[in-house]
Amino acid sequence: MTDLTVIVLAAGHGKRMKSKLPKVLHTIGGRSMVGHVLSAVESLHADRVVVVVGHGRDQVQAHVEQLDERIVVAVQDEQLGTGHAAQVGLLASGATSGDVLVLTADTPLLTGETLQWFMGRHRSGQHAVSVLTARVPVPRGYGRIVRTDDGDVRAIVEEKDASEEERAIDEINSGILAFDAAFLQAALPRLERSPVSGEFYLTDTVRLAVADGSRAGGHVLADPVQTEGANDRVQLAELGRELNRRVVERWMREGVTVVDPATTWIHVDVDLAPDVTLLPGVQLLGATSVAEDAVIGPDTTLTDCEVGPGAHVVRTQAALSVIGEGAEVGPFAHLRPGTVLGRAGKIGGFVETKNAEIGDGAKVPHLSYVGDAVIGEGTNIGAGTIFANYDGVTKHRTTIGKYAKTGSNNTFIPPVTIGDGASTGGGTVVREDVPAGALAVSAGPLRVIEGWARAKRPGTPQAAAAEAASGTPDPAGDSAGDPAGGGRTAGEHEESHTRGSRVGDPATGA
Ligand code: UD1
Ligand code: CA
Repeated sequence: MTDLTVIVLAAGHGKRMKSKLPKVLHTIGGRSMVGHVLSAVESLHADRVVVVVGHGRDQVQAHVEQLDERIVVAVQDEQLGTGHAAQVGLLASGATSGDVLVLTADTPLLTGETLQWFMGRHRSGQHAVSVLTARVPVPRGYGRIVRTDDGDVRAIVEEKDASEEERAIDEINSGILAFDAAFLQAALPRLERSPVSGEFYLTDTVRLAVADGSRAGGHVLADPVQTEGANDRVQLAELGRELNRRVVERWMREGVTVVDPATTWIHVDVDLAPDVTLLPGVQLLGATSVAEDAVIGPDTTLTDCEVGPGAHVVRTQAALSVIGEGAEVGPFAHLRPGTVLGRAGKIGGFVETKNAEIGDGAKVPHLSYVGDAVIGEGTNIGAGTIFANYDGVTKHRTTIGKYAKTGSNNTFIPPVTIGDGASTGGGTVVREDVPAGALAVSAGPLRVIEGWARAKRPGTPQAAAAEAASGTPDPAGDSAGDPAGGGRTAGEHEESHTRGSRVGDPATGA
């Protein structure tokens, strides 16, 4: 195999993005533009990869090194043009023989297959330099490919320097060029500044090759979108949409049902199994994976989540969470990082979870907050339960055992442990551990004060409704007494009693 050096040019400013973030760090499909290009480059298994940085160099360098620590970062202090940038990169690479591929960092739809095809053409043509070209309806802004009668490339003319006739050429330079290393090494110092822009153009190497009697090849890519760059946020969104269209289409061809491709967004690192169904309005982001027969959506956003086979996730927002096989989530659930829902478990409507392990078959069906908790297998948490994990200073943990049944409207005040098979009554505030099999009840006995509406709300529709129900007439048109219900009377106490007999019968929310 021929030695291969890849130089990625990423020193430019990207002014038109109007951003504090360097252009090549803007993302589509969940990956930075330079990340997309480096991912395509990866498939070439190059001997070395150099990224030339300049504007925003610290940010770009940190990002690139995080993507792949083997990448060499070269700094171009002053942006004197693509020819100068290539020279900075070539020097840093130390390459003197074999092939050199130079490309720009802002063509996120470029694929590894395209680069492999292009390098194959370059090698078999034995050209000193080859350029990847495309025919586009509107060639504005690009370098134009000038060919000889026998089809070789004679020159690449930058638009700024082009004649009227050259501007009419619709074959453009993608900015992706391959070189014989020795030729490039000799050619770069011979480049001269453009009289128009003052820059050293990498593209002028083609003229030098031709002048030396070497041949320059031009290989037309049938899919020009792959060479399109995003220079502003409008183009970024357009390329983002096109990338998504391609990703969604690929998954449909792999056996995923996508009901509405136009409202389905799938990041490039997502992994889907056949027979997954995605309903409208779904975003699968980051490193999310979904196993077979799971149904996601409508209107669901999953970031870095793992969804098990056959799970149903409806109108849900979830991040860094695991949803077990056959589990049910939503509608209107919010799973925050560290949620792990077991097989056939349930996180129901208006439930928020965070750092919560919910066991196999365990259910948190309604209107609850579960933070910093372990809930054992088969346990049911009553409606409207709050795990009060935060005391204002520190977060604490609640542990609930297997097959426990906790009542509606409970508050767990951790650190607290509820044993296997335990129960709690409705409205219980659990401040202390509950042993296995016990029933804990903290709500006081119910007080009932008979005739209160008539005594304290005379003349109101409430009192009238109470009278109608009891058949006793309202003594008051004389509502002058104490309409706002002030102090208690002795009579009130006489009329009150308590119901204390329901302690053994907790109202557990199902
Ligand atoms: C360049 C090509 C043009 C091609 C187009 C494709 C040249 C002279 N022109 O034009 O033929 O059609 O790309 O998009 O090569 N860069 C550096 N250092 C510099 C200058 C640029 O790293 O000193 C980087 C930029 O960050 C960018 C890339 O090189 O990623 C291209 O530079 P840019 O100024 O955008 O070149 P174009 O005018 O678009
Ligand atoms: Ca450009």
